[in-house]
Amino acid sequence: MSTNTKATPQSPKQQVAIKAAEIVDNGMIVGLGTGSTANLFIDELARRQREHQLDIQVVASSVISRVKAEQAGLKVMAIEHLSHLDMYVDGADEVTSDMTLLKGRGQDLVCEKLLASHATAFYVMVDESKMVNKIGEKNAIPIEVIPQAAQLVLNRLSKLQAKGSLRLNAAGDNVAYSAAGNLILDMQFTTFETAQINALLTVMPGVVEHGIFADVAKAVFVGSSDGVKLLQ
Ligand code: 5RP
Repeated sequence: MSTNTKATPQSPKQQVAIKAAEIVDNGMIVGLGTGSTANLFIDELARRQREHQLDIQVVASSVISRVKAEQAGLKVMAIEHLSHLDMYVDGADEVTSDMTLLKGRGQDLVCEKLLASHATAFYVMVDESKMVNKIGEKNAIPIEVIPQAAQLVLNRLSKLQAKGSLRLNAAGDNVAYSAAGNLILDMQFTTFETAQINALLTVMPGVVEHGIFADVAKAVFVGSSDGVKLLQ
């Protein structure tokens, strides 16, 4: 009887999760992103913690990641108890070569950007399908708004030739609420550059947060069938 000892090949997302977990040092507080790649990172971090007996603490950008981290045996602290954050690690929906990101396909944009911006170092993990020439090339830009502002912001953006609508829940029978209790507009811009959209949304009253993450990433791990490249 023959035994198959071939290891399962690691997917690009698994490879980048492993690389990101390797930079976590003893004593660090690590922010956990949300999504399938962040889930792989949580598993890998928990494995490293066990194997190397690391004394680390984590903080989660979403309920899903918090529960997953707790189940994996990581020591989770609440965001409100943070006085500093050594690193934040998350996936992204789009990445350009200058490390501008689009995030927020989930409902946890506010905490994702909070942790990404306050971390000493923000590491991003993507497979090569996420690399784009321009933000918004493949996905609409998520814009989280207070519920009262949704129509006013939508009207204002429509006047600027942006197209889009309120995000609906998975069943499609109601609006989707973010983790922070807000609504989300998914908008496509035709006439502006990313820096202009970023500047416009960052100061628009009623907008709580948006999915463009500019000048926050320290490095991006990009996985492909050829291995992992580091963009920095
Ligand atoms: C959630 C995000 C995710 O990081 C992004 O959608 C990538 O997800 P995945 O790792 O599943 O491809 O921004 O708001």
